[in-house]
Amino acid sequence: ERGEYRHYMLKEIHEQPNAVAETLEERVTHDHLLAAAFGPDAERLLAEVEGVHIIACGTSYHAGMIARYQIEQLAGLPCNVEIASEYRYRDPVVPERHLFVCISQSGETADTLAALRLAGEKGYLARLAICNVPESSMVRESDLVLMTRAGPEIGVASTKAFTTQLSALALLALALGKAHGRLDAEAEANAVAELRALPTAIEAALELDGPIEKLAEHLVHRHHALFLGRGVHYPVAMEGALKLKEISYIHAEAYAAGELKHGPLALVDEDMPIIAVAPSDALLEKIRSNLEEVRARGGELIVFSDAESGFLPDERTHVIALPRAGGPLTAPAIFTIPLQLLAYHVAVHKGTDVDKPRNLAKSVTVE
Ligand code: F6R
Repeated sequence: ERGEYRHYMLKEIHEQPNAVAETLEERVTHDHLLAAAFGPDAERLLAEVEGVHIIACGTSYHAGMIARYQIEQLAGLPCNVEIASEYRYRDPVVPERHLFVCISQSGETADTLAALRLAGEKGYLARLAICNVPESSMVRESDLVLMTRAGPEIGVASTKAFTTQLSALALLALALGKAHGRLDAEAEANAVAELRALPTAIEAALELDGPIEKLAEHLVHRHHALFLGRGVHYPVAMEGALKLKEISYIHAEAYAAGELKHGPLALVDEDMPIIAVAPSDALLEKIRSNLEEVRARGGELIVFSDAESGFLPDERTHVIALPRAGGPLTAPAIFTIPLQLLAYHVAVHKGTDVDKPRNLAKSVTVE
């Protein structure tokens, strides 16, 4: 039931604080990750893992790309992320003691399910499904399961499924880090505190709805948009571009900002809006200089950042500062919220069928 909301998508965007809190529930205490979060035998198994392969499609693939940065950083393990439709038709080489992870809201996506089955023949240490539907094929066919608890997602464009996937994947990164002795009690307590603050940070981001709706007017008549991010925010930019494409039918592309000079900078002129995800992290100065180059070529900038970053608005630079920017585990989920809202409001202004965008199905059960 949509209740007071105009669309399921908007309702689901607003359900995210709760969905994330549910997904963390009983998996972390106030200061540590609970060993049982991944099932009874998982602790021993995770300690044996020497590398991770993550497979998914679409938005779920973007969640996997984000997790890669976190797993490498927290656990020091090599992590590859791949689209299921590519993985299943390669002959993937699987080194010893690798963990296979598939991510899927529905648990029925044909390519991801086929990848899970193929992985069953490849000698992985174990196959873990991160999934939102308990009775789905992927849950039934995996060795380990970590449920996202987003509840039913009706809008075709995935929102709360994505941020709950990010929450579950953060738990995986932490569990791997812990199992490999890379996380002392203090680091674990800090990470858990950061995760527990995520629902409130998402709520704070949702408060930006008004200014984002205004910004959306700038995009309604555009035909193209370029999304930029660096590091863990590069896949966040990809997710923002996908949301805009799907529901507003505006052509949007995401680039790692460091790639601009290698081609896409040629696209930039007054008609090309640039949407940047640029929080104050280790890469802030890098993306700032990328954005200055864009600005110098007349591009209109929409910058999602935070109070510390020092971005100054002018007539062609719009700055939205997130009130709570989070840390390395939670910033990607927090910065996704304004991008979801932006896509949503552009689509509403354009009058598209937000919950059922043309040509798309909620669950892609045929290839
Ligand atoms: C985008 C979207 C799709 C799905 C993709 C995978 O908003 O919803 O890209 O993420 O089809 O679906 P699941 O996660 O069910 O495997």
